[in-house]
Amino acid sequence: MFPLFVCLLVLPLYSSAERNDRPIIAVLSQDVFAPIPNRTAYIAASYVKFLEAAGARVVPVRINQSPEDYQALFSSINGVLFPGGAASIYSSGYQRAAQFFLAAAIEANKRGDYFPVWGTCLGFEQMMYLTSGKQILSRTNTSGVALPLNFTNEANVSRMFKSFPDELMEALSSEPLTENSHMWSVATSTFISNDELRKFYKVLSTNTDGRTEFVSTVEAYDYPIYGTQWHPEKNPLEWRKSYYPHSPSAVRMTFYMAQFFVNEARKNFHKFASEDEERNALIYNSSPVYADTPNMFEQIYYFE
Ligand SMILES: *[C@@H]1O[C@H](CO)[C@@H](O)[C@H](O)[C@H]1NC(C)=O
Ligand SMILES: *[C@@H]1O[C@H](CO)[C@@H](O)[C@H](O)[C@H]1NC(C)=O
Ligand SMILES: *[C@@H]1O[C@H](CO)[C@@H](O)[C@H](O)[C@H]1NC(C)=O
Ligand SMILES: *[C@@H]1O[C@H](CO)[C@@H](O)[C@H](O)[C@H]1NC(C)=O
Repeated sequence: MFPLFVCLLVLPLYSSAERNDRPIIAVLSQDVFAPIPNRTAYIAASYVKFLEAAGARVVPVRINQSPEDYQALFSSINGVLFPGGAASIYSSGYQRAAQFFLAAAIEANKRGDYFPVWGTCLGFEQMMYLTSGKQILSRTNTSGVALPLNFTNEANVSRMFKSFPDELMEALSSEPLTENSHMWSVATSTFISNDELRKFYKVLSTNTDGRTEFVSTVEAYDYPIYGTQWHPEKNPLEWRKSYYPHSPSAVRMTFYMAQFFVNEARKNFHKFASEDEERNALIYNSSPVYADTPNMFEQIYYFE
């Protein structure tokens, strides 16, 4: 009798505790190309809005912090996003922070502490370099082009895409809804010939610049680790290039991608030690500025 009673009593509490509806996701900052006082690092606001619109709050990850600081932050957040940009993936504050958080995430997931990681564009390339330990990039002609995804047979049954509506998958595979802003790519042939990459990541889509086929979307086999060489966040939020897609399907895709990743973060239960610590960490402590025109972003958060 007793164990049954305990089950009945505990089950509803347990299932409500299985989802964290107050997820906080960290976004990596990176060096400003031409720093000025108080503006040495930045985060494009579109990454922040992308996550916020799907129900997450954001904390910035400052570059060049100590491993102790990063460990404390890791224990407080529910996921991490490595954004696009132009930092070095071989040696930079961005690279060192990404290396710390990717390793911490893998270790946590191995212990059953579900912790999701997302890499976009440079973030995708950073993950590929960290996983392979090799210079695996090839030059491609993809620095400003929207493309349809060439889905692999794995895409329909992937964690990332399996709950996307059929008509959105159809649009993604036939219309140029995914924006590419990269001069380097992981060629499919390089990916296939690298054991570390092939065993770690499942390829969900590829693309080509007409000469070189490259990997455009991945999810890790064993961990909630995801990457897109393209930019899910730009479609509703960035306007400065004629090739940014803004159609209803393009914008819908952005929301589905964000919802997927934020739902992954809802499976993590890390917490800040106190409400004050949480308040002090949130990106709401900074205000984005409307960026000057040579800049490709509309709004940018700058850090000292
Ligand atoms: C940098 O920020 C600090 C604190 O917000 C401010 O007091 C200082 O005037 C700023 N310096 C510059 C050069 O803008
Ligand atoms: C690069 O791709 C663009 C289309 O995205 C095309 O117009 C251009 O001719 C290509 N350049 C080269 C060198 O292939
Ligand atoms: C899609 O990928 C497959 C497998 O690599 C390839 O055979 C096919 O030509 C690609 N299609 C397009 C439109 O790129
Ligand atoms: C994925 O599912 C859609 C809709 O059910 C189908 O049209 C498409 O052929 C499938 N694609 C693959 C690669 O299995």
